[in-house]
Amino acid sequence: MLNKTTDIMLEQAVQSESYPIPPGVFAETVRSVQHYTDRLFMFRISRPRSFRFRSGEFVMIGLPNAARPIYRAYSIASPSWDDELEFYSIKVPDGPLTKHLQKIQPGDTIIMRRKPTGTLVHDALLPGKRLYLFSTGTGIAPFASIVRDPETYDKFDRIVLTHTCRQVAELKYGEELIAQTMDDPLVGDQAKERLVHYPTTTQESSQRNGRITGHIASGRIFEELGLPPLSRTVDRCMICGSMSFLKDAKRLMEDRAFVEGSNSKPADYVVERAFVG
Ligand code: A2P
Repeated sequence: MLNKTTDIMLEQAVQSESYPIPPGVFAETVRSVQHYTDRLFMFRISRPRSFRFRSGEFVMIGLPNAARPIYRAYSIASPSWDDELEFYSIKVPDGPLTKHLQKIQPGDTIIMRRKPTGTLVHDALLPGKRLYLFSTGTGIAPFASIVRDPETYDKFDRIVLTHTCRQVAELKYGEELIAQTMDDPLVGDQAKERLVHYPTTTQESSQRNGRITGHIASGRIFEELGLPPLSRTVDRCMICGSMSFLKDAKRLMEDRAFVEGSNSKPADYVVERAFVG
């Protein structure tokens, strides 16, 4: 009973804004929250009028629940034209931020540092014909921004978004994203012709099983989509997911002589780790 009371008091401390908003950060309102599984959720917040970002970038966010709040890097999942900011997050039971963040409700306050940054941006890639977006888990978040951005369709003839998760239920955010993008008034018509979704699962059977790295190495993805094997002359790649995935995916790129790009030196592919906890 004592523990329960303590829990409730802690919970109230999380949500009540008894701590002042730190100077120089944005304080935004949670507009909606959607839980997908006991490990994954999405939330949308108001967007500060002065906040500009490039699709694919990340920003530091936190909760006003301590004198010195904890911030974590979150990819912005909404496109740069949206008037809300969307984030897709893992729930880590003992994660210093996500153990609280997973309990947010509409109306709560999120604090956000002012400067977005990141390498999963069009500016870091040379022109190409096809854009491959390879993701695992919450690594799909920056690509949710990229596939809803008209610039993506201005720059590429074909966009392939791959998403590998352990379980079928973890693919749902990506499925909803694709359905919504196909219906989007701004990019829907182009997306219907040019955007391809390639989901796979590794720990539960689905329409396509196995790690994406295996499908690239075996060539199965290209056969299935009727596309030629990866070539640095025409293909550009963005990679986002767990550290182990990034390492293996980078190796696949290097084996094909792809050169890693950056904001100051655009090239053939870019990488960013998915941020957790
Ligand atoms: P697997 O189940 O075979 O480990 P996580 O939830 O651990 O971040 O993993 C998300 C997805 O990424 C899982 O389907 C996982 O597959 C896959 N994955 C993990 N490591 C790699 C890797 N090195 N290469 C490709 N996929 C990976």
